[in-house]
Amino acid sequence: MNTAEASAGIGHGPRTLVMISGGGTNLQAIINETLAGELPINLFAVVSDRPGVLGLDRAEKAGIPTHVVDYRAIGERESAERELASTLEELDPQLIVLAGFMRILPTPVVEAYAGRMLNIHPSLLPRYRGLDTYRRALEAGDEWHGTTVHFVIPELDAGPPIIQYRVRIHADETETSLQSRVQQGEYLIYPRAVGWFGEGRLRLQDGEVWLDGLPLEEPVVVNEASPGT
Ligand code: GRF
Repeated sequence: MNTAEASAGIGHGPRTLVMISGGGTNLQAIINETLAGELPINLFAVVSDRPGVLGLDRAEKAGIPTHVVDYRAIGERESAERELASTLEELDPQLIVLAGFMRILPTPVVEAYAGRMLNIHPSLLPRYRGLDTYRRALEAGDEWHGTTVHFVIPELDAGPPIIQYRVRIHADETETSLQSRVQQGEYLIYPRAVGWFGEGRLRLQDGEVWLDGLPLEEPVVVNEASPGT
């Protein structure tokens, strides 16, 4: 990787790196809005912990340099984490967007990007940190489920929430139907939060989210439009 490559990518604004592990549909939503000139970021790198995933193809198609830290091939977790940390250090992003990155990041990496690292988690945090959120919400008989964009802190899925998308759980809901409705919302709220950061409207201060110069008492909430509206 050289400097010219590091400043490549798409769009103009803070140097933004997206981390993925798989399909990259959230990455695609961010790419689309950046290409449309709607996101003031320079999306200059995509990093994956797995080779050959669809998200990497999406990045390459858009002309964004890609980097793989192949955890499985490296074998030992500590070595993979060291390689990831040095890759990030070399790339020197101003914003890191975790979009389906399925590894727990080492604390020093999270701390190095405090207030400059976002994640999207498919639940209405603080409910259902961790995996299997759709199943857990259905099993609990919840009325609402959704997804949350939050700043990342070392504790998993525990960082301060910025924006949530909520869907009402239907009587005949399945994990698949719920996931597909929630993900449509992800493509709406994740680019929105990234855009706020790019515009300098969003920051983390003393553990609190500030938007447009005011502390957010609660995350911004977007509800799925009811059928027919
Ligand atoms: C998203 O649904 C997100 O909530 C979770 O991982 C999924 C990634 O999907 N963190 P994709 O790779 O963006 O399609």
